[in-house]
Amino acid sequence: MTEKNYVIVGGSHGIGFGLVQRLSEAGHSATVLSRTNEKLAGLKGVNHVTVDVTTDEISTDWLPDSIDGLAYCPGSINLRSFRGLKPEVFREDFELNVVGAVKCLQAALSGLKAAPSSSVLMFSTVAVRQGMTMHASVATAKGAIEGLTRSLAAELAPKVRVNCIAPALTNTPLAERFFANEEKAASMGQMYPLKRTGTTDDIASIGAFLLSDQATWITGQVIGVDGGLSAVG
Ligand SMILES: NC(=O)c1ccc[n+]([C@@H]2O[C@H](COP(=O)([O-])OP(=O)(O)OC[C@H]3O[C@@H](n4cnc5c(N)ncnc54)[C@H](OP(=O)(O)O)[C@@H]3O)[C@@H](O)[C@H]2O)c1
Repeated sequence: MTEKNYVIVGGSHGIGFGLVQRLSEAGHSATVLSRTNEKLAGLKGVNHVTVDVTTDEISTDWLPDSIDGLAYCPGSINLRSFRGLKPEVFREDFELNVVGAVKCLQAALSGLKAAPSSSVLMFSTVAVRQGMTMHASVATAKGAIEGLTRSLAAELAPKVRVNCIAPALTNTPLAERFFANEEKAASMGQMYPLKRTGTTDDIASIGAFLLSDQATWITGQVIGVDGGLSAVG
């Protein structure tokens, strides 16, 4: 196996950490950009850069010269009625979910183009395809991510593939308030055609596949990994 260089923005916990674990176990190297790094100690081939994507500029000096894949994982779940969502919340969600991704991708672009074949992975939410009450702000920001995915897939082909995963509720630090009560979490799982909510592994396994050479004929896709919620009534 050839060792590859990945950049995982938001690889310190949640789905991004699941990706970093998989890449490290497979013998690849990963540069992780995030604000914290407690869980990364002991993982082979992992280098951490402390950065807040909403306030810091992203330096190309932190990134490998040749990048085989980049995942952008930071995201938000601000669930409020539309009436209670101040324009400021829309701006903050857009800054973290979209502008942060744009900054990281622009910093990584020459590295992605320098690799023989490379891949970008971004994250949307099931709430873009499936209208859901209280989701206006996050769905607006993630809708932009789906547009960015398809635009960049067109603009960067054939050298760089660009795909997106749209998860439904997944047990990560971001969603911990929904899993605090086990009974409630189990009953939420019953709303899904596949009768459970998601795990980090459910999402990270598909993410690792999309970043890998097994997916070299897939680009411009938004893939629902959502227990069937967006497709099955
Ligand atoms: N979990 C769900 O139910 C769910 C559902 C639909 C969509 N999604 C989407 O899936 C993606 C991954 O979600 P997740 O649940 O794994 O999220 P998570 O548990 O909050 O992890 C997010 C990662 O991004 C980093 N991060 C957050 N804000 C950052 C900032 N300002 N600067 C730099 N790094 C930052 C975090 O690290 P630090 O805290 O160390 O900075 C962490 O490593 C997100 O885009 C999310 O919107 C998740």
